Amino acid sequence: MTVTTSPTPATSPGTELVFPPGFVWGAATAAFQIEGAAAEDGRVPSIWDTFCRVPGAVANGDTGDVACDHYHRWPEDVALMADLGLGAYRFSTAWPRICPEPGTVNRAGLDFYSRLVDGLLERGIEPWLTLYHWDLPQSLEDRGGWASRETVDHFVEYALVVQGALGDRVRRWTTLNEPWCSAFLGYAGGQHAPGRQEPAAAVGALHHLLLAHGRAVTAMRAVDPTADYGITLNMSVFDPADPGSPADVAAADREDALLNRVFAEPVLLGRYPQVALDAYASVGVAPPVHDGDLAEIAAPIDFLGINYYNGAAVTAQRPTTDSAMPTGAPVERTTSSPSVAADPVWSVSRGLPRTAMDWEVQPDGLRRVLERAHTDWTGPAGIPIHVTENGAAYDDDVAPDGSVPDADRTAYILEHLRAVHAAMGSGADVRGYFAWSLLDNFEWAYGYEKRFGIVRVDFDTLERTPKDSAHAFARVARTGRLGE
Ligand code: NOJ
Repeated sequence: MTVTTSPTPATSPGTELVFPPGFVWGAATAAFQIEGAAAEDGRVPSIWDTFCRVPGAVANGDTGDVACDHYHRWPEDVALMADLGLGAYRFSTAWPRICPEPGTVNRAGLDFYSRLVDGLLERGIEPWLTLYHWDLPQSLEDRGGWASRETVDHFVEYALVVQGALGDRVRRWTTLNEPWCSAFLGYAGGQHAPGRQEPAAAVGALHHLLLAHGRAVTAMRAVDPTADYGITLNMSVFDPADPGSPADVAAADREDALLNRVFAEPVLLGRYPQVALDAYASVGVAPPVHDGDLAEIAAPIDFLGINYYNGAAVTAQRPTTDSAMPTGAPVERTTSSPSVAADPVWSVSRGLPRTAMDWEVQPDGLRRVLERAHTDWTGPAGIPIHVTENGAAYDDDVAPDGSVPDADRTAYILEHLRAVHAAMGSGADVRGYFAWSLLDNFEWAYGYEKRFGIVRVDFDTLERTPKDSAHAFARVARTGRLGE
């Protein structure tokens, strides 16, 4: 298969770039991936605790029981961020720590986050709080999980509890992180918790997650109209492997609809894209929309968070090379799951460098994602964008002097920052960038094998060591300048 698209660099390396004052520089994590302390202070099991115990579900049988032990070591982690000069920290609260059952509140769980928020503010680091980063309480999954409409109101109740406890200090609220993963990896592909492979449940989850987002934003805004509310979506760019092939062009368009548009358009335009509805209909499923739902989903937001890792060249024809894999397979996370569309779409290698996740490195895709989001969705409504995750897994080596010279990750981050700057230069209203991740952590189905941290974690000793990428990122964060 010949791939004729060749992404151009965002800017030529070597030019010094200046980011505007006030640009938010941060790092991101998620509760289940770093906290550990899985049974402490009243936390109950989440779907990920259960999933980790399914034989073969997670590499090496890894679990979140200890993770980075951030629950106990958070003061050290906050100090690390302060040393790196970061202005913001994006983290998530664990629903199973806070509302173990609907109608119950666990004070000890809330107190942990209250201490963390105070610790951040004391160091001048702005807390960016995400309410849902995939750790649904298992008891709610037992009642149907996100496939059930009842979960929507349980989420709103949980959101209001967190806001009630932390809303005097947290000003930036994100409802959901990457709901595509929750719905389609969790309920269609089965690579993520709860590990279900039910297309109707997946499309139900898609709709209920979006409804939970919109309803929570409205409820929280009624309590505090002065804070900022948003959602984080994972976005990507899909190029037809053969731009001259109408089937490949249609495949790229469908992937775009199933990953990007099916979330961005309900939230920002109040409608589902017809291409996605047609794909779902091809396997006999549809989002369970009730009257008024789309208006609720489209509740005004104050920022859009975008997570970007890689692009993909896609084709409608099953390629013969073994570099090809069906989209939605565990290693290709940016595309739709084949079980929610009858026509398979395949991604093919176009010879770009790849990370340890086997994801292609395509910084220019980030420029395209940001410009497109601004033009099609956020710009007309005057909504700013934050890059809430970007980063790369590589197999790091520790040098004899103890340092971690992760040149690939450093280059990845700096090149993507150039792409952010280029998008801003063409008018995209991007206000911040969060590196994924502060720490090496539990990379979901890959367990601790894949390291995304700018800070290394030794999972035997739990010792933290900033990698070269952390130092390079810190230089940019401190100065707002990206040099040669
Ligand atoms: C997106 C998710 O939000 C995060 O949890 C995950 O670790 C990274 N991407 C890398 O896969």
